[in-house]
Amino acid sequence: MCDGAGMAPSHNDSPRLKVAVVGLGGIGGAAAGLLARPGLYDVTACVRQPFDRLYVEGPEGVFDVPLRTFTDPAAVAPVDWVLLCTKTHETASAGPWLKRLCTPSTIVAALQNGIDHAERIAPYVNGATIVPVLVYYNGERLTPDRVRYRPVSANELVTPDDAGGRAFAELMQPTPLHVLTSADFITLKWRKLLINAAANPITALTLQRQAVLRRPDIYALCLDVLAEAAKVGRAEGAALAEDEPQRMMTSLMTFSPELGTSMYFDRLAGKPFEVEALTGAIVAAGQRHGIATPLNGVLLTLLRAISEENAKPQS
Ligand SMILES: NC(=O)c1ccc[n+]([C@@H]2O[C@H](COP(=O)([O-])OP(=O)(O)OC[C@H]3O[C@@H](n4cnc5c(N)ncnc54)[C@H](OP(=O)(O)O)[C@@H]3O)[C@@H](O)[C@H]2O)c1
Repeated sequence: MCDGAGMAPSHNDSPRLKVAVVGLGGIGGAAAGLLARPGLYDVTACVRQPFDRLYVEGPEGVFDVPLRTFTDPAAVAPVDWVLLCTKTHETASAGPWLKRLCTPSTIVAALQNGIDHAERIAPYVNGATIVPVLVYYNGERLTPDRVRYRPVSANELVTPDDAGGRAFAELMQPTPLHVLTSADFITLKWRKLLINAAANPITALTLQRQAVLRRPDIYALCLDVLAEAAKVGRAEGAALAEDEPQRMMTSLMTFSPELGTSMYFDRLAGKPFEVEALTGAIVAAGQRHGIATPLNGVLLTLLRAISEENAKPQS
């Protein structure tokens, strides 16, 4: 552990905002490093493996910052901001951190995939405000104390255009991560879900990288999977065009065939994956609206069988 964070001077005499980042993988590690670097905030990291300095590789080079890390939820106190950056299925395991860090005046930014951020997190946050955040940078943890991030879009983070979203944009303002606040967040979150809803399940189930999406039979299957999902998204209020599935596939074809997906890498590593937040969310929303989702249902059953097996403790 290290007490390095908190030593840099603040720009004024008011106490620095206290920011806790829970889960320092690719996304949380980059966010924690970039928030800590200017010295404006008191940043702590809630992790399972402690370290003294965090090394961040980004487009502008490599920098390192001292970071105060905690491994025991009992050791932390309430903060102004929490950035929750675990995988969605790890939210319950992050619950003890959230319960210690949050009060009704805390704001929790959930940098996670999926469409149900608030429902997923609300049980743990003691009435704190929840800000759902869509993530558009690639993050990769290289070692426990080193991460690499790559921007892939003009806006690395997207939130609703409400008080919480705007406060998050202000928090991130000293960092190079640009936040778009959108009045049509529901459409953007469904678009993000759609881009994940074909590539992740198919690469995980076939154990092949995105090259597999170029097979004509798989391409056609993806279009049908996405057409089901888009129908559900429209019923939820997302303004998804009729040709949205085709646009998604066209966009996926611009990615390198050598790329994997997070579900593919989690399966390779024998870990559980974000099945409920992606395919599960589509099937559940379909059920709410009485819309059949047979293809997504088959994917969900197969993915659950693998992910739940991977979640069992190794004997
Ligand atoms: N990576 C990307 O490029 C990317 C892009 C867009 C969206 N996203 C989304 O962003 C979210 C985070 O993804 P990620 O790639 O950063 O995941 P990740 O690399 O797996 O990082 C998650 C981190 O959370 C930690 N963690 C889990 N449970 C914890 C607990 N109870 N206490 C403390 N730490 C805990 C893990 O620690 P251990 O290492 O100890 O397991 C891991 O370091 C996901 O929803 C993902 O879908 C990711």
